[in-house]
Amino acid sequence: MKKSNPYGYLTDRLSDLDQQQRLRSLIPRIARGTRIVEPDGTELVNFGGNDYLGFASEPVRKGHFDTLRGSGASALVCGWTAEHQRLAETIADFESTEAAVVFPSGFVACSGTTATLAEEGDLILSDRLNHASLIDGCRMSKAECMVYPHLSFEYVADVLRKKRQQYQRVWIVTDGVFSMDGHVAPLRELAQLAAEYNSQLIVDEAHGTGVLGANGTGVCEALGVKEQVAIRIGTLSKAIGGQGGFVAGPKVVIDYLINRCRTLIYSTSLAPASVLAALAAFELVRDEPGRRHHVCSLAQRLRGRLSIHVDETESGVPIIPILIGSDADAIKLSSQLRAKGFFVPAIRPPTVPEGTARLRVSLSAAHTEQMVDELADAIHGFLHSQN
Ligand SMILES: Cc1ncc(COP(=O)(O)O)c(C=O)c1O
Repeated sequence: MKKSNPYGYLTDRLSDLDQQQRLRSLIPRIARGTRIVEPDGTELVNFGGNDYLGFASEPVRKGHFDTLRGSGASALVCGWTAEHQRLAETIADFESTEAAVVFPSGFVACSGTTATLAEEGDLILSDRLNHASLIDGCRMSKAECMVYPHLSFEYVADVLRKKRQQYQRVWIVTDGVFSMDGHVAPLRELAQLAAEYNSQLIVDEAHGTGVLGANGTGVCEALGVKEQVAIRIGTLSKAIGGQGGFVAGPKVVIDYLINRCRTLIYSTSLAPASVLAALAAFELVRDEPGRRHHVCSLAQRLRGRLSIHVDETESGVPIIPILIGSDADAIKLSSQLRAKGFFVPAIRPPTVPEGTARLRVSLSAAHTEQMVDELADAIHGFLHSQN
């Protein structure tokens, strides 16, 4: 029998993507602070990372260099060190929750928590533009999942009014700040609905931690709903500048995750080096509030320069999308900016919905006002020349 190529279908799919100009590949770049160096040596100002406070490329101080490379085991076996415990306690203290637990990544913190807490007979209400990690959590859960239109607490209210009785428990899961839009979730309204309908609100603070709120704990704090949102998920990979994820909440929830959450139990715990980097970063978040004030003011400045009008909380979010529409136009603008010395990635479907390709500008406390102004001038120039 003639052997067929078992991967021929993958070749076909990749060439389809190529034809649609959606084939992606990994490009080895060097990112250092606000600079990014391309493989051909071109140096650009980096407006594409999530290092909101500028920690990622700073060395970890306090003599933490002799730390072990890996934890060697999952948390429940013997991969949970005194430093992991200290980090979990630091996070619980930072988040003002009874307890917290550390995950190997933010992705598995989101997916595992959603999948574990929402059971058969429950309903999950999930924002249409939630991050893939929450979406995968919904897929892995045995609960029924209903996707609601982006930000529509009215839709959530309607479902709860009509259907709350049909389910054992209802979980409302949402990103606090949406990673590709910079939108802030309507947490006050959702928290009120959760309370009214005996439901639980889970917020992914991935893009809020370290940046928003008086103490930098995130969007729940900024909107004054920290007390009402009992379960908050975060990442150590964006403003915290390292790697890893966490869940903060009531002790019983954290204990349950430790006992039942598969993405926590069956994965090697976070590397000790990342644990120590995160511990040092939480100290900086507390001791250097100027960083978050600076990045928020840069975000307001850039929005002002680009005439993007949003409410006060959203104005300080360091993610600024520039909606373009077609993939080709977004790629063109990204490469025009590259030629001017700026790295601003074009984000295309499936990361964003069809027809909403965009540039995603992300800011860091390491950027200067001058860098932001130069970027704004370049964007203006190119958008203007297209009209
Ligand atoms: C909203 C959101 N949640 C979760 C994650 C996952 O975090 P991590 O990169 O730590 O796995 C991301 C990162 O891309 C994100 O943007």
